[in-house]
Amino acid sequence: MEKNIKWGIVGLGRIARAFAEGLKHTDNGTLHCVASRDLDKAIKFAEEWDAPHSAGSYEELAKREDIDAVYVATPHSEHARLATLCMNHGKAVLCEKPMAVNAKQVETMIRCAKENNVLLMEGMWTRFPPLMTEIRNILNSGALGKVKTLQADFGFRPPSRNPNSRLFSKALAGGSMLDIGVYPISLSFMVFGKPSKISTECHLGETGVDEQAAYLFKYSEGQMAVLHSSLEGETAQEAFISGTEGTLRVHKQCWRPQKMTFTKKGCEPELIAMPFQGNGFNYEAKSFGDLLLSGEKDSPIMPLRESLAIHEVMDSIREKWGMQYTMDLD
Ligand SMILES: NC(=O)c1ccc[n+]([C@@H]2O[C@H](COP(=O)([O-])OP(=O)(O)OC[C@H]3O[C@@H](n4cnc5c(N)ncnc54)[C@H](OP(=O)(O)O)[C@@H]3O)[C@@H](O)[C@H]2O)c1
Repeated sequence: MEKNIKWGIVGLGRIARAFAEGLKHTDNGTLHCVASRDLDKAIKFAEEWDAPHSAGSYEELAKREDIDAVYVATPHSEHARLATLCMNHGKAVLCEKPMAVNAKQVETMIRCAKENNVLLMEGMWTRFPPLMTEIRNILNSGALGKVKTLQADFGFRPPSRNPNSRLFSKALAGGSMLDIGVYPISLSFMVFGKPSKISTECHLGETGVDEQAAYLFKYSEGQMAVLHSSLEGETAQEAFISGTEGTLRVHKQCWRPQKMTFTKKGCEPELIAMPFQGNGFNYEAKSFGDLLLSGEKDSPIMPLRESLAIHEVMDSIREKWGMQYTMDLD
């Protein structure tokens, strides 16, 4: 493979644009082909983002032999189907978060990646910016002492509450947990790993999806994560990690991390700012590209076993709520 990865995008909505912009800030890949269910839309998108090719169906893009990697940017309900379609045609796949609707779908995707010997990664882009790397460095250095608690939240009130939109439609696997709760939940895995005990509450709205939810995770040595997601109201969108020797406060918006305050016991608070170079999506695209070029099949920053464990936890949370998507019945 050349040093320049030829990317394809399937599903040309809001986040596809952000990713196309991110690709412009990477040095190891370019946008080669974009696919929509509507050819005119694909042609316009390709023109706008300098992609040399466009396709009027996702299948057409998957079958092209001149594409190395595909970014799946559709509603969650379509992730598993489209990721496996692309992998079965030999493509590496970067699949938007959440990786899928449930753990069973994630297992199928991981099996498919292994069978086709291709790289697969969940697009949890928050893990890749420099500030998040710095957070991992601080955690690994032991500078916080023994980490005891995490608080993190992601809540906002979408201006449109269209029941058919992907945020509220149950058929599209809408709801706050899968869409935005997955960020604080993923962060809790980065800090503590898999919880040993979970308590949770949610409010189900008119369309039957969780419009807000709270999650309390307990770990084997008594550590706790207190997490919240909401499509009903704006929240602080911060993360606070506290250890015996210090604290880290990741400022708004902690899911696109660029600024935090690091306070060591007995010291003055230190403001650490690491602004994005690019729009932030470039970091996951670059990391994925480097893995692909070096022949890796899994990311050490967002490993497949962790995406699976996160979905197992989200499945068990929905089980406690008594909430099912139709995909759970497949
Ligand atoms: N990383 C982040 O910060 C971030 C932010 C927002 C969203 N996301 C994730 O990205 C994914 C897409 O979100 P988005 O906000 O870009 O959504 P969006 O604006 O609604 O776009 C999704 C696109 O998916 C395609 N699609 C395929 N099947 C569809 C269906 N049954 N219904 C509707 N659209 C369908 C459509 O593209 P065509 O019409 O071109 O076929 C549509 O434009 C979600 O999984 C979400 O979790 C990530």
